[in-house]
Amino acid sequence: EADLESRLPLKGKKILITAGPTYEAIDPVRFIGNHSSGKMGFDIAQSAANLGASVILVSGPSHLKIENNLVKVIRVVSAQEMYDACHQYFADVDVAIAAAAVADYKPKIIALQKIKKTADDFTIELEKTKDILASLGEIKKNQFLIGFALETENEIENAKLKIQKKNLDLIVLNSLQDKGAGFGKPTNKITFIDKNFEVQPMELKSKEAVADDILNKVIAHFL
Ligand code: CTP
Ligand code: CA
Repeated sequence: EADLESRLPLKGKKILITAGPTYEAIDPVRFIGNHSSGKMGFDIAQSAANLGASVILVSGPSHLKIENNLVKVIRVVSAQEMYDACHQYFADVDVAIAAAAVADYKPKIIALQKIKKTADDFTIELEKTKDILASLGEIKKNQFLIGFALETENEIENAKLKIQKKNLDLIVLNSLQDKGAGFGKPTNKITFIDKNFEVQPMELKSKEAVADDILNKVIAHFL
């Protein structure tokens, strides 16, 4: 029995995970989105459930599925919907991991009818979406809060700024340096940076293996 327990080190823990892109409507048939597949977040959810955790997976539009009694999937479309779902569950969880590629901007006005092709030039005015992760950082009590960062310059410095700005315990920095890593790829090259600014570069590996590495950080936090 002790052996079984040790293989389910996150039994009794609740983990909120965001995944996938968000779609921000322009009109009834068009949106602003991005190429996130949701794979990283779904792999984290699977890995967490394998370790015994109860998972709330809030996902933007993604074709991925997960069938597991320990995982509750909440499908959302926009950043606002993802924000609302996260705030519905955050107070009740022990850990939150933000793997979603949330749109940074959304159209200021959503046209009620399909926009017709008229003028040669056409401009859509955008406004910022809510920063979901930063909003969780503002209200967090004992939750262990993990974010992701995608940077193309001054990676480590920018990631450290995000830790401070969003009140994170750990950030997973995605390196685009490596050709095998990123959107639509099965692999990721990450660097962990914790709130004490300890930097730990990891090898290029499958997203499943990256998910396991992230959950090992969660397990270590509870030891
Ligand atoms: N994030 C979020 N809500 C947003 C934007 C980002 O929750 N509206 C989360 C992402 O899920 C990720 C982290 O914040 O965990 C960092 O996302 P990233 O795009 O790297 O950083 P931003 O804060 O959006 O800043 P920028 O895109 O300008 O680098
Ligand atoms: Ca962003």
